[in-house]
Amino acid sequence: MKVLVTGGAGYIGTHTCVTLLGQGYEVVIVDNLSNSKPAAVERVRELSGKDVAFYQEDVGDEQALRDIFQKEKPQAVIHFAGYKAVGESVEQPLKYYENNVGITVALLKVMGQCGVKNIVFSSSATVYGDVENPPLREDAKLPHHANCPYGTTKLINEQMITDCAHADPAFNAVLLRYFNPVGAHESGRIGEDPAGTPNNLAPYIVQTVVGKRDKLHVFGNDYPTPDGTCIRDYIHVVDLAEGHAAALKLFEKGGCGLRVYNLGTGRGHSVMEVLKAFCEAAGQEIPYVIDGRRDGDLPESYADVSKAKRELGWEAKKTLQDMCVDSLRWQRQNPDGYGD
Ligand code: NAD
Ligand code: UD1
Repeated sequence: MKVLVTGGAGYIGTHTCVTLLGQGYEVVIVDNLSNSKPAAVERVRELSGKDVAFYQEDVGDEQALRDIFQKEKPQAVIHFAGYKAVGESVEQPLKYYENNVGITVALLKVMGQCGVKNIVFSSSATVYGDVENPPLREDAKLPHHANCPYGTTKLINEQMITDCAHADPAFNAVLLRYFNPVGAHESGRIGEDPAGTPNNLAPYIVQTVVGKRDKLHVFGNDYPTPDGTCIRDYIHVVDLAEGHAAALKLFEKGGCGLRVYNLGTGRGHSVMEVLKAFCEAAGQEIPYVIDGRRDGDLPESYADVSKAKRELGWEAKKTLQDMCVDSLRWQRQNPDGYGD
């Protein structure tokens, strides 16, 4: 099967491409490199030993996208492309609605024009908001909007894709709600390369280990959790990549319609537990300070993963220790990420 991967040069996209290529899928990457580097695509080629087609185009450019679909004739799409910085989305909401919603409209239109009926979409646990208590199940009632514009774009995308599936019984869509992806490929050749100061926990910790940051700022230790710090469901990015391969199998079987799955481990870890695991993996103390709470943070979030296990035959295998060791290897081998 040939798969067109939007945002395939990004963090989760590169890992997914390597996994798919290893399983014999053909991959076509479309990425405008707004948050990634050409070197990332080169490393996908290097790790897979395959010549991956790459188009540096904006997914919102319908004509360019149509030309690629007509030339490459993919049978399925995995749609990773989008912006993902929560704070920036609060400051510049239209930038997020334009890129994260607008390009999905363009993509779905072009898919329709070119007769491509299969899409996997990158959603997020953020769609659950704070309405339900964990473990979070796919059938939870979702809020009308999330706690930030970025999250709301995920809700809107899920709704648009759901509406397309209702409008066309031959349309197949798998919405994957990721929990907290961390880690890197065990080769140390691909990994997360955040621009500027990292917003997320694991990239901030690894940059502290290699001396790029002075210390970790722990956002609050007065939450109603055992050690007072927030709990999240951290999932290794390679496990997450395999979840996408499992989703594509539904298309191969034919006629899956609309499906929604959580991709997590089903287990939560607190910020202090994550920090301790990184200290063990690094073999050193990692300086930290307790700060105030960050706006919008929930005390606890973790997935119910039974549906993905039952229907996709997929479950996360890697441990928190694997995530720490692999993140550190990537950071140490590539202190400046993919470079300039
Ligand atoms: P990323 O920024 O590393 O990758 C996204 C890629 O999309 C980048 O390479 C960027 O250049 C590209 N892109 C952005 N806008 C584009 C456009 N208009 N046209 C073409 N390419 C475009 O992010 P990631 O962490 O790999 O996330 C991938 C997807 O998963 C995103 O949709 C994100 O919202 C979602 N997600 C990520 C997380 C996470 O913690 N990383 C959690 C939940 C959901
Ligand atoms: C955040 C976003 C979420 C998005 C996800 C992936 C918010 C409120 N949520 O999730 O919408 O889908 O990233 O991009 O921003 N922490 C620290 N110090 C740090 C960084 C984080 O203590 O420097 C803590 C946070 O308070 C949180 C935990 O670590 O308790 C995990 O944070 P993070 O990695 O940003 O993920 P989420 O907040 O779960």
